[in-house]
Amino acid sequence: MLSRRQALLLASAATGAIALPRSPTASSAARPSGALPDQWFSETLTRLAFGSCARQDQEQPIWTAIEAQDPQLFLFLGDNIYADTRDMNVMAYQYQMLAAKPGFQRIRRRCRTLAIWDDHDFGENDAGGDYPMKEQSRRLFCDFWGEPADSPRRSRSGVFVSYLFGQDPRRVQVIMPDLRYNRTPLQLQDLGGRAYTDRAREWNQMGVAVPGPYQRNPSPQATMLGERQWQWLEAQLRIPAQVRIFASSLQFAADFPGWEGWCNFAYDQQRLLHLIRKTRANGLLCISGDTHYAELSRLEMNAPYPIWDLTSSGLTEVWTVKPPNALRVGETLHEQNFGMIQIDWSGPLPLVIAQTRDVTGRLAHEERIDTAELQV
Ligand SMILES: [Fe+2]
Repeated sequence: MLSRRQALLLASAATGAIALPRSPTASSAARPSGALPDQWFSETLTRLAFGSCARQDQEQPIWTAIEAQDPQLFLFLGDNIYADTRDMNVMAYQYQMLAAKPGFQRIRRRCRTLAIWDDHDFGENDAGGDYPMKEQSRRLFCDFWGEPADSPRRSRSGVFVSYLFGQDPRRVQVIMPDLRYNRTPLQLQDLGGRAYTDRAREWNQMGVAVPGPYQRNPSPQATMLGERQWQWLEAQLRIPAQVRIFASSLQFAADFPGWEGWCNFAYDQQRLLHLIRKTRANGLLCISGDTHYAELSRLEMNAPYPIWDLTSSGLTEVWTVKPPNALRVGETLHEQNFGMIQIDWSGPLPLVIAQTRDVTGRLAHEERIDTAELQV
């Protein structure tokens, strides 16, 4: 087995890892006032791709289709490797396997890549704040994704991060919350002592969509973000931007699949809707991963404006089951897939074209979202 250091040296050599600039490249005169993003890139963003759930021990043919879309930016939304371990030598080796993937190497060279983690690269299936190796895992994550030694992601209450692209009035904010580091325990459905698998079989025989094993926890103490991340997020939402991509490892809007998602943390979910309204954070849409299928959700009731959530999963993983989701728009896609966001800046307010595409690049779903409708 390689040591962690050996593995990382190999990993960075294999990827030709791109060191991201730390300081804003725009002039200080054009800086937004108040809170600052963690990083600021001067380029106007018009094409970004995203995806999640990539097994490092499988072929990853999807990168060819992603490259053909010529994105400026690729967002890794978590489960970027399946580590599932408390042994950090094993985790380092899993990262090395990802680094060795030719498609991964090409995308890292070709465009900017930014990442957040989900449970499997945080450490274990459905893991939360009580995962005992989270500091060691954070170090591996930050080393692999090229975070500098002084990056706040290495020391604060999670690896959450925000980026700002472009100049007013063509600013895009990318917010990547950390849903793992502070997460309180999940609550299982009360099935009256029956095994979940028995109940799931029964639902299936009844011909109804089978929800996962978790249930909504209404307690204000139940949280994914934790208070310090909430304070940070509120400040970030006050930064002026015309488009905000809320890049969440878990689905924000889907209701109610019973697997992991914001809907299990009812207080957190309502708090974000409230914060959008309170900070007048216009132009926000969610993208998400984790599910092993792609779908689009739209949450309208009791929201400051319609909240779209485009879920793309996975880059390698496919699940054939279709869980319930009352807010689903169109059909689910049960093939390897990635998401594309194009931003048309030609009008008075930007138009966002959100797509899911399969492993061949075929368009599976497209939604044209006018940010004039995403206003508090
Ligand atoms: Fe996940």
